[in-house]
Amino acid sequence: MKEIKRPYVILSAAMTIDGKIATISGDPELSDEKDWREVHKLRSQVDAIMVGKGTILKDNPKLHIKYFKHKGYYRIIIDSNLSIPIDSNVIITQPELYPTIICTTENASTEKIKEIELKNVNIIKSGNGKQVDLTNLLSILSNMGISSILLEGGGTLNWSFINHDLIDEMRLTIAPWIVGGKDAITLVEGAGFEKMEQGRKFKLLKVYKRDNYVILRYKKK
Ligand SMILES: NC(=O)c1ccc[n+]([C@@H]2O[C@H](COP(=O)([O-])OP(=O)(O)OC[C@H]3O[C@@H](n4cnc5c(N)ncnc54)[C@H](OP(=O)(O)O)[C@@H]3O)[C@@H](O)[C@H]2O)c1
Repeated sequence: MKEIKRPYVILSAAMTIDGKIATISGDPELSDEKDWREVHKLRSQVDAIMVGKGTILKDNPKLHIKYFKHKGYYRIIIDSNLSIPIDSNVIITQPELYPTIICTTENASTEKIKEIELKNVNIIKSGNGKQVDLTNLLSILSNMGISSILLEGGGTLNWSFINHDLIDEMRLTIAPWIVGGKDAITLVEGAGFEKMEQGRKFKLLKVYKRDNYVILRYKKK
């Protein structure tokens, strides 16, 4: 079967010792400043940062770079129903340096698309199911010249990437907390695989510690 051309995808996340990427109330403050610096360095090396709609609704991130000079990149939001607020930080913050693309489906309302496009946001339609067709989307992004993506969560979107075997590399920070909570979001949510052998396997490239944090780099096996 012919392999479809797609960008190289690096999953980046910070999680607690017990694998949560936010607390039960949605508090995501896991990284210290040194960790943010490393993540921002990684952001400066890719063509696009991608997050799911849940992350925009809960954290309202800017997805910008604070610590380094750089050329900018695309911010890509996965939002099947175009439901993120029009005044979200990813829409209103520094659009000239970080153009925003919202990815939806063929079923999205034309009116909503027009409203968002007025904010200089690009809309990409991918698939006609309930949710964005990610495999097709990556092929569209590749044709636009995007060759690397930093996937920054959250847990639901991470699962879809894992499920479709679309992760090439991972950078994970383990922060020195245990917060518990069966409803606290974990690194990978979704339906999960039944058997261990169905799970995606990764090769450990690098592991290092900084203060109380452990940083892991993995590559697809
Ligand atoms: N610690 C960290 O590194 C880190 C990083 C990022 C986020 N977080 C945390 O993660 C939490 C958010 O995670 P989340 O799981 O709620 O949301 P999420 O993964 O950010 O977004 C999931 C949403 O994306 C949309 N989507 C569209 N197409 C999809 C597809 N094919 N597959 C999967 N999702 C698709 C869905 O909404 P529609 O169906 O409406 O489109 C879905 O509900 C927040 O609490 C945030 O703080 C932590």
